[in-house]
Amino acid sequence: MAEKNVYQVADWNGPGGERWVAYQARLDAMMAVFGQAAIEAAAPATGERVLDIGCGAGASSLDLAARVGAGGQVLGVDISEPLIDRARVLAPQDTPARFQVADASSTELPEGAFDILFSRFGVMFFDDPTGAFAHMRRALKPGGRIAFVCWRGMAENDWVRLPMGAIKGIVPPTAPPDPEAPGPFSFGDRGRVARILTAAGFADIAIAPFDASIPFGEGGTRDAAIDDAVKMTLEVGPLARALADQPEDIRARASAAVRAVFADRPGERSVMLDGAAWIVTARNPAN
Ligand SMILES: C[S@@+](CC[C@H](N)C(=O)[O-])C[C@H]1O[C@@H](n2cnc3c(N)ncnc32)[C@H](O)[C@@H]1O
Repeated sequence: MAEKNVYQVADWNGPGGERWVAYQARLDAMMAVFGQAAIEAAAPATGERVLDIGCGAGASSLDLAARVGAGGQVLGVDISEPLIDRARVLAPQDTPARFQVADASSTELPEGAFDILFSRFGVMFFDDPTGAFAHMRRALKPGGRIAFVCWRGMAENDWVRLPMGAIKGIVPPTAPPDPEAPGPFSFGDRGRVARILTAAGFADIAIAPFDASIPFGEGGTRDAAIDDAVKMTLEVGPLARALADQPEDIRARASAAVRAVFADRPGERSVMLDGAAWIVTARNPAN
């Protein structure tokens, strides 16, 4: 059988993972409000067991752990060794959260063991999403629930639409990406998300939009904040990938163009950019 998620494993253990670690504190601050919305949707109760899928550096696992308490358990799994290392460093000693390097789509999971499958932006990267969700569902108790947050389409997310628009005409055009290819926006189509979860055996599927402003970059002055936001955008995420192999002169022009669009956005110590996500919930049918 072909190995699964080969590209993602390489990227999240290579340059993608390293940059994510470097910007971890800022990325956590940027995604916090989305994660909290997903946690409210999951409604973890004291003593429950939670699997945090694609947990990264573990911020959401620790938030979940605070909700389930010492009598509960949170297992954070991620394919990225550098991110799991960071999660272990950040975790307080007395947390009921544990972390494991594993591919959530195929790793052996205890059957019927978890009350909740949870994810903050960690479930859009599977080569075979239906197979992955069916596999993870088997780790849920009958009647157990899933709750995750994922991005809507690129066109609705200013944090990527604006910089990507700015570099058009500077970076040589490439074929438009397959919107269903594994990546941050592969769950943008809510119909597709519903089809995947249905085929994986989930019931009571609900998919609700959730919008929030995201603070990009930080600085003591507005100019410093804009510079920092541009630097980060060129180093982490979709724009970084689009510019990865470009020569210095193109990168410099792209940077200036992104700076110009960011300078038009509000924010004093950060550049505030609109983010658009789905909060998805569903249930493992009771037997
Ligand atoms: C956008 S990051 C989100 C990280 C974290 N949930 C957070 O909110 O900070 C996506 C994460 O999914 C992980 N990931 C991707 N494919 C995975 C898989 N098949 N199994 C487990 N983790 C995976 C990546 O390594 C990465 O840490």
